[in-house]
Amino acid sequence: MKLLHRVRSSRLLLPGAVVFGVALGGVLAFGVGGAQGLNQSERSYGDSAITYYYPPKSYIPAGQALFDTFCSSCHGTNAEGTSRAPNLLGLGPATIDFWVTTGRMPAENPNAIQAPRKPAKLSDQEALEVAAYVNSLDPSRPGIPRVNLKDANVAIGADLFSLNCAACHTITGAGDELAFGTYAPSLRAATPTQVAEAIRTGPGNMPVFSGNLTDAQVADIDAYVTRYIQHPTNPGGFALGGVGPVAEGFVALLFGVGLLALIGYWIGERA
Ligand code: HEC
Ligand code: HEC
Repeated sequence: MKLLHRVRSSRLLLPGAVVFGVALGGVLAFGVGGAQGLNQSERSYGDSAITYYYPPKSYIPAGQALFDTFCSSCHGTNAEGTSRAPNLLGLGPATIDFWVTTGRMPAENPNAIQAPRKPAKLSDQEALEVAAYVNSLDPSRPGIPRVNLKDANVAIGADLFSLNCAACHTITGAGDELAFGTYAPSLRAATPTQVAEAIRTGPGNMPVFSGNLTDAQVADIDAYVTRYIQHPTNPGGFALGGVGPVAEGFVALLFGVGLLALIGYWIGERA
């Protein structure tokens, strides 16, 4: 009791409490950023972060049969487009693969403003076969990206994501509405290949990022989306609804200030 009494009446207590409160707030507010290890010098890539490959010619006959069954009614027998659906010639394998593996194609409702992601009707192998067929009609780029995430830097990816993607998809990747009934979808379901395909081909109203992002940067963003957004680890200790650093800052502020108020009250009572 005597010791407690001495500590309580110590003139160092108030400044100490202020320092403690501010430090606690800081730790809480920056826990997330700090735990990601924002160390730009850590990056060391191997030969290439992405290789683009083209499905082999042997896939073409199977792809043609699938195209006739599932695609030609809307896109035309030679993928040249109809009044119901756009021309697919010259889009490159990554575009075809993205729309088929995300289940957007074959479309259920050709009059929809935007074809939604849904469970894929064709298998991954069949998507490659269709891509081989369409690409054989007018060979073009980009090929299908095979992303090497081993050396990707999630912290750099987070910065690039907030700069290039968050305006439409939001910083948590939850997605948001855009103009005229269109929307940027949630990024929770996309595979690493689909993320790179979206970045390199710009589906629908999404811009194409080609020269402005290197393959290494695409891999960094991809790692941020598929590792951090899809598997939040909440290193700060609290998810707080995943609404990001603003809310975390507020909580830290409230908690820190509340603690100070309590300590102030405690000291005041003594006097
Ligand atoms: C019921 C009609 C319909 C069927 C069947 C269909 N599509 Fe589509 N497709 C559309 C429409 C409509 C769009 C435009 C949708 C959009 O922009 O959201 C489209 C868009 C696409 C795009 C994007 C084109 C671009 O310019 O970016 C690709 C690629 C595509 N379809 C491939 C296919 C493939 C491959 C199949 C068969 C597996 C298929 N589609 C089946 C109607 C259809
Ligand atoms: C101008 C708004 C806009 C920006 C900026 C943007 N996107 Fe998109 N994104 C979209 C829209 C719209 C779609 C859906 C296109 C469609 O289905 O017609 C989309 C689709 C996607 C998809 C497919 C998701 C799925 O599950 O099918 C991924 C992945 C994606 N975007 C990632 C990104 C990344 C990564 C960036 C930053 C490098 C980015 N986007 C920047 C608007 C945007």
